[in-house]
Parts: sequence; C-alpha cells; structure tokens
Amino acid sequence: MSKRFYIETVGCQMNVLDSELIASGLIGVGYEPAESRRRADVVLFNTCSVRQHAEDKIYSALGRLKHAKEHDPTKIIGVVGCMAQKDGPLVFRRAPHVDLVVGPSHLGQLARLIDEVATGGGPLIAVSPDRGAATHAEARESFAQFNPTRHVETRASAHQAMVRAMFGCDNYCSYCVVPAVRGPEQSRPIDEIEKEVRLLARQALDRHVALEVTLLGQTVNSYRYRDGERTYRLADVLYRLNDIEGLARLKFVTNHPRHMTDDLIRAVADLEKVSPYFHVPAQSGSDRMLKRMRRGYTAGQYREMLERIWAAVPGAAVTSDFIVGFCGETEAEFDETVELVRQARFKNSFIFKYSPRPGTYAAEHYDDDVPEREKRRRNNKLLAVQNAISEEENQPLVGHTVEVLVEGPSKSSAKRHAAGDVTQLVGRTTCDRIVVFDGSVDLVGQVVPVEIESAGAFTLFGKSLFHREGAKSAKKPQNADRK
Ligand code: 5AD
Ligand code: SF4
Repeated sequence: MSKRFYIETVGCQMNVLDSELIASGLIGVGYEPAESRRRADVVLFNTCSVRQHAEDKIYSALGRLKHAKEHDPTKIIGVVGCMAQKDGPLVFRRAPHVDLVVGPSHLGQLARLIDEVATGGGPLIAVSPDRGAATHAEARESFAQFNPTRHVETRASAHQAMVRAMFGCDNYCSYCVVPAVRGPEQSRPIDEIEKEVRLLARQALDRHVALEVTLLGQTVNSYRYRDGERTYRLADVLYRLNDIEGLARLKFVTNHPRHMTDDLIRAVADLEKVSPYFHVPAQSGSDRMLKRMRRGYTAGQYREMLERIWAAVPGAAVTSDFIVGFCGETEAEFDETVELVRQARFKNSFIFKYSPRPGTYAAEHYDDDVPEREKRRRNNKLLAVQNAISEEENQPLVGHTVEVLVEGPSKSSAKRHAAGDVTQLVGRTTCDRIVVFDGSVDLVGQVVPVEIESAGAFTLFGKSLFHREGAKSAKKPQNADRK
C-alpha cells in the first residue's frame, strides 16, 4: 500500500505554494495524500519564521504530536520551510521526536530523505549553510529551486493557481528574516513561467473553469531575468502571459515600492486580464522608521508612487502591510503611519506588531523598546482606522454589478438551509474583494456578474445576475470593480 502524507501549512502564499509542490513531488513518486495527521505515515509541518508567534505555534503543535510518535514510532515527522532553515538542529533539541528538518532550498530532496528516515537513517537535516558565510554564487547554488510538474489534484481548486516568478530576497530590511531563510533573489526563466501557466490553463480548460494565476515573489516586481542580450522584467512577463487561452485573471504579489516602475503600472493599465490590484507594503509612514527599517524610500516617495498608480490605473485597489511598535517608534511617528493610511485609503492593510528576529540587523542593533501593551494599542488603533476606510471604500459598490470568480460554498453555507441546489457562495472581484451571494454550486470556477446589495469592511453581499445575460448598471463606474 502507498504511504500517506499530511502537510500542515502556516505562513505566507509562498508556503502554500511550496506545500502544493511538495504534495506534487510526493505524489509523483507514489505517495497518497491522507485526510488527517492521524491517518498519515508522514506528517510535515511547513513552517514560517517571520514572527515569533508563528514559531511558538509550530513548536506547540509539534509538542502535541509527541504522544502519537511514542504510540507509533514508524510515523515520520518532518519540519520543513523557513523555521527549519532558521533553527536547524535546534528543532531536534526542542522537539526530539522530529525525524527530519528540511529548509526551503532542499524540498526537491524531500522524498529521498523521507525514504532514508523510513529505512532507519534518521534523524536527518538538510538546510543551506548560513548565507552570511557563503559567497553570493555559493548561496545561489545552495538555495536551489524546486519546480516539480504541477498536478491539479494537489491544488485547493482547479481555478486558482500560484506560480513562482522569483525566489528569495536581497533587500535585507532590518527587521526581516526572509533573506536569511529564503536565500538570494533568483528570477525564474520567463519561458519556464510561460510553460507552467500554459499547463495550468490547459488543466482549467479541460475542467471548464476560469483560471486565475497569481505570480509570486518576495518582491515580485524586482523580477529580472537575463536571456542573452535581453533582460526581462515583470511587465514583460505580464505581456507574455496575457493572451494565453484559458487564463482569465492574472495577479502578482508582493511588490516593493522601490521597484514599482512606470512600465509595470502601464502593463497593468493596458492588459485586460491583469487585475488592477497592487499589494505594495509601506510598513510605516515615518521617514525615521523607514530609514531604520532600511526600506530604501521615504513616505513622500511612497505617496508619489500611489499618485502614479492612481493616474495610470483609475480605481485600482492598493493594499499594504504595516509594522507597528518598531524599535524606537514614538507616538508622533506612529501618528504619521495613521496619517498615511488615512490619505492612501488602502483597500485593506495587514498590520503586525514588531517581533524581533534573531540574526537580523534590527535585533542586533536596536532596542525592542515599545512595550507589548503599547504595540497592541497601536495595532488596534491602526486596524480600526483601516477598517473604517475599507468599509467606506466598499459602499460605492452597492447597487453596481461586479464580476466575481466563484471560489466555492461560503464557510457559513453549511449552516444555512439550502433551497434546492442553491447555496451561499463566495468569490472575489478582480480587485480581490470578497463577495458572498446565493447561487448554484455549478457556478464554482466561473466568472459571473453579481449585483451588490450591501457592503461591510471585509465582505460585499449581492445577488447573482447570471441568468440576466449582459446585465449592466446604468451608474458611472469610478472603481475598477464597478461595471
Ligand atoms: N515583525 C513583525 N512583522 C514583520 N514582517 C516581516 N518581518 C516582521 C517582523 N520581524 C511583516 C512585514 C511584511 C509581512 C509579510 O510581515 O509587514 O511585509
Ligand atoms: Fe523581508 Fe524586506 Fe525582503 Fe520583504 S523586501 S521579504 S520585508 S527583507
């Protein structure tokens, strides 16, 4: 009987993609997915290191597995991804029942390493050497890329797929562990990206669903691939992919403000399938904090970038990340962040309390001197300001028709009484707004018009116009989601 694996994933979209690729790789050599940890022969934790909280959660989940391992010593427990790279042998000291520690750069060897452990060769560790101790060329080589063939079965849905455009990061923002754990920036060849998107589009066409592709990179807009005389940037990738048959929507995350060039903004404005949606983290509205964070721009330059986006792509949705309570952040400096959020009117923002990461410049040179209670207060305040803006920005959509790519039944649909084959569905607009409406499950994977009836900060509620072919609102569109 085939061995069964179960993957628990935390962290960013990179990790979600890595887990899918790990699953593809394992299925490719004869494994089967298990529906729970309990039923699996191999349990893998795909981990995140970006904040302390994420690591604490993994170590406590590992602690809970100790019993299961004692009960069944043949069960293989693996820790993979960013925390594996960062902690290395420390994982075995903190959780001695772990069999395998594999960094993001060694995922291609996972199947072989699992086999070695299964035949008594464990515990095993496979991580890259400390990036600081290697030359750039050595580091690039040791942080190898892992691109197994994509299997549609390993994705949560046939109609959505992430495609890696870039690996790693060279920015070394002072608070961030990513350059150490994900290695140097490496852009994938444009032909390889195109080939993968064509394969995914073919799979979607075969299943009669619309395909949304999200290109991924830690700073995806610094994509740069040299092929002979020619250097390709992200805009070139978008132009190359836009006409692929079967591809309905194209997005890209995450962007760095410094690389938000006019040619990229123009590509978003020009290309019909590219979503007018920019996730471009500001992190702070204070110049002194931005400098300490080593972000490489001022709040004024960020505002100027927003102006360029708004001028070229009217109604574009812009979203951001912020860190509050960074080392030495005063109340006045925090207020500058609040002011930026008020002015920029982001569609939404992800807000984090600063968490010192061992080995980063900030952890080694600055005091983490904003008390936890104060970080929490700033976090809540900024969130309240942002949520009020998100709700206000959603109101003008009421009464308008938006195009929704239907993702599936909503979380609460199971609790609601379903009338006939109608259930509550959830999907997203091209600007990444969540829309809930009633419809048939046959609509999953389709792009359908939905008339918005009410809107909160996080969700739009509407009714499906699928039966009224070509239904259009008479009101003038001002927001890229409005039709
Ligand atoms: N503490 C808190 N937040 C962090 N981020 C990155 N490093 C840290 C840290 N040490 C946030 C940034 C980044 C997002 C993915 O996580 O806002 O954009
Ligand atoms: Fe971390 Fe900065 Fe790289 Fe983003 S750009 S991954 S915050 S170092």
